[in-house]
Amino acid sequence: MPELRSRLQVDLPGERRPRRLRSSPALRRLVRETRLDPAQLVAPLFVVSGRERREEISSLKGHSRWSPDLALAEARRLARLGVGGVLLFGIPDAKDAEGSGAAAAGGPVPETLRKLREAKLPLVSIADVCLCEYTDHGHCGVLRGGEVDNDATLPLLAEAALAYAEAGADVVAPSAMMDGQVAALRSALDAAGHLDTAIMAYASKHASGFYGPFREAAGSTPGVGDRKAYQMDSANGREALLEMELDAGEGADLLMVKPAITSLDLLALARQRFDLPLAAYQVSGEAAMIEAAAERGWIDRRTVVLESLTAIVRAGAQVVMTYFAADVATWLREDR
Ligand code: PBG
Repeated sequence: MPELRSRLQVDLPGERRPRRLRSSPALRRLVRETRLDPAQLVAPLFVVSGRERREEISSLKGHSRWSPDLALAEARRLARLGVGGVLLFGIPDAKDAEGSGAAAAGGPVPETLRKLREAKLPLVSIADVCLCEYTDHGHCGVLRGGEVDNDATLPLLAEAALAYAEAGADVVAPSAMMDGQVAALRSALDAAGHLDTAIMAYASKHASGFYGPFREAAGSTPGVGDRKAYQMDSANGREALLEMELDAGEGADLLMVKPAITSLDLLALARQRFDLPLAAYQVSGEAAMIEAAAERGWIDRRTVVLESLTAIVRAGAQVVMTYFAADVATWLREDR
């Protein structure tokens, strides 16, 4: 059909052939706009009391609740892989209405932090600051008349952050979505002389179905109600930027958004607006979806993990919390 072919011949404006730069692996590598680096990844670690205690977390493949000695061993492994940091979540032996375990100096988080400080690993230690893992009702603050009381929760969050700073946390990360929580932490830390403890604010945190596997891991599903009166409506983007602006004004050193997959637009907007480092949390449900589909052979795990993290960084995050940190660090080494 030579006539047909010549009739369909399209005149390409000769200079615009973007495919040229896709024609070999070397060319593609040369012009790649976004590169992942293990140093920008943070691995969440769940810690419990005791020694040589390890409980696999069924909802988070490859993750366990570790006693502090084993958490240290896991942190060593992550440091050897070049992972940038660990984000600690504590699961206490006992919970109460005020979440008093959050600030206990003998709790699993401070104990792990002291071990990390002693080991001097090339790894940033970050402690999540929230009450939900420590309250018997599972809410992120204290209840007054069935509602989470914002201002009564602030001093409890500040006490927890102080306990973590004293145990050696490089960064504390308030995630309770209480108004004024960054300011409360900053003034408490400064008053106690912890001028160098940084704050990574969970600035834009939406109420989300993607936290399901985490709540199973931490046993922090609210007994009654949900978190919609303090976490943001996921429909709201301008409000997310307001939250970031307030947290920056209160002294946050890094601004985080989560879930990552539903916040890529916010990362891109925030990158234009703020000069602080931006972080994103690829949360438990995002990881679980990838694991489940990969297990069924519906997607290629490695391809999708790398693709999703690359998109998060491309959107504007320079730090990413991800349950795949160790895997990614291993793959990036192999690829070098
Ligand atoms: C609150 C907190 C949660 C997550 C991080 N910090 C749970 C929640 O808000 O319900 C979720 C992280 C994840 O899903 O991986 N302490």
